[in-house]
Amino acid sequence: MNSLTKKLSLLLMALFVLIGIVLAFITRYASVQYNLEMTQRLNGSIAMYVAAEEQLIQNGQHNEAAIKRLAERAMVINPTVEVYLLDTAGRILSHNLPQDTQLQTHIPLAQINTFLTADSHRPLVNLDPRSPQTKKAFSAAKVNFNDQHEGYVYAILGGQTYEALAKDISKNFVLKVALASIVAVLLLGYLIGILVVNQLTKPLTQLTKKVRGFQQQITGEEATHKTTGDEIKALESAFQQMQRKIKRQMKQIQSADQNRRDLITNVSHDLRTPLASIQGYMDTLLIKKEQLDDQQRDYYLNTASRHCVRLNHLVNDLFELSKLDSLAVKPSIEAFSMSELMQDVSMEFKMMAQQRNVDLQVDLLDGNTDVKADIGLMQRVLENLISNAIKHTPKDGKVLLKLAQRDDQFNVIIRDTGRGISEKELPHIFDRLYRAENSSNYNQSSSGLGLAIVKKIMDLHKTQIDVISTLDKGTQFSFRLPVAA
Ligand SMILES: Nc1ncnc2c1ncn2[C@@H]1O[C@H](COP(=O)(O)OP(=O)(O)O)[C@@H](O)[C@H]1O
Ligand SMILES: [Mg+2]
Repeated sequence: MNSLTKKLSLLLMALFVLIGIVLAFITRYASVQYNLEMTQRLNGSIAMYVAAEEQLIQNGQHNEAAIKRLAERAMVINPTVEVYLLDTAGRILSHNLPQDTQLQTHIPLAQINTFLTADSHRPLVNLDPRSPQTKKAFSAAKVNFNDQHEGYVYAILGGQTYEALAKDISKNFVLKVALASIVAVLLLGYLIGILVVNQLTKPLTQLTKKVRGFQQQITGEEATHKTTGDEIKALESAFQQMQRKIKRQMKQIQSADQNRRDLITNVSHDLRTPLASIQGYMDTLLIKKEQLDDQQRDYYLNTASRHCVRLNHLVNDLFELSKLDSLAVKPSIEAFSMSELMQDVSMEFKMMAQQRNVDLQVDLLDGNTDVKADIGLMQRVLENLISNAIKHTPKDGKVLLKLAQRDDQFNVIIRDTGRGISEKELPHIFDRLYRAENSSNYNQSSSGLGLAIVKKIMDLHKTQIDVISTLDKGTQFSFRLPVAA
């Protein structure tokens, strides 16, 4: 049984117990009232018979013997009847009870007068002189002498015997049956209620299970609220968790979308420039074919070719970045020697450095320098950083490739004595297509994507790239990778 069903069953039980108690009270009250009404309807005329039998009061004088006689006769008809003779003010004049009985002296007349009006409702109850705390069904009749009102005959119906019976319900068979029926009906109702509740909550339980499964799927989180709260609470919390996740993802999608749009705008600009140049030089070549000498022709062709190279770079970088962006790319992490990789990559740039008169130095570690990373991607990072360093370092400058170890991490450092990056630009150099303003080298290999690619690769390795730079002094890029065990 799930917790929601349990809750609802308990609620149902409480409700039914409450209904049961109320019904029991109503039943008991109704049965007492019914009893009173029947007693009064059946014996209501007793007082009238007694009063009609003999003249009980004459000129204020009551006939003691007569009242005794008549009361005894009334008791033969109904043994629970107690007869009293009252004066016009309700004072008890006489009765047939033993002389030492404790009695009230006055009977209130309001109910008696109501009883005497023809169609008053039943049951009417009034004071029993023997037990003033309970009111009893009664019968009453006026006593007249020579058309003058002299007093009342007042009869308590069902006196003490009745009281004893009413108090002990266990002796009341009908009431017992009624109460037992109530209990039985409520029990049956409760059982049916539980079945219905179970039936109704089943789909909810299933839904909760499904939602939890789905949630686990999309958030990758274990459902942590297994035991707290019922199904609805679980649903709510699952819903909230998913809502947060979806909101986060929406934001990511939106910003990714914005990035993509910006990129396309910038890229189309970057593509258009070299394309326009190429077309311009080609057109000139075609139109002025005859007028141009060999040297001029070579110049035009060379320039067009340079732009082609640049275009090629840009397209390649774009392709690479979009590949890294797609979720499909997972770095294939393996152990390899960082020293060796740095040595190899530095060899690639030996020519370029020599051409620019830049001193390319390496300062590597001996011994085991195995790191855990994707070797292909790391090669790309080194290439980008080293080519940047050489590009931005003037003649006679220095570029240093250094590997250091601290604890269980290797620190890869690429340091140059180049033109440096201004503080204003430093936060932007990793942005896509960002090129420093004064970056005079609108050259073949500058796409503005190099550092964006580096950053992306660092993200994929869950590490970060640091940069320190002083304008006109030099720049240092560095990143750390874990030592392979
Ligand atoms: N070592 C460096 N020294 C000075 N500036 C640098 C250096 N590396 C990068 N930059 C600046 O950062 C910008 C972005 O670099 P990058 O993303 O590699 O683009 P690109 O090299 O294609 O211009 C460069 O245009 C340059 O202004
Ligand atoms: Mg670059």
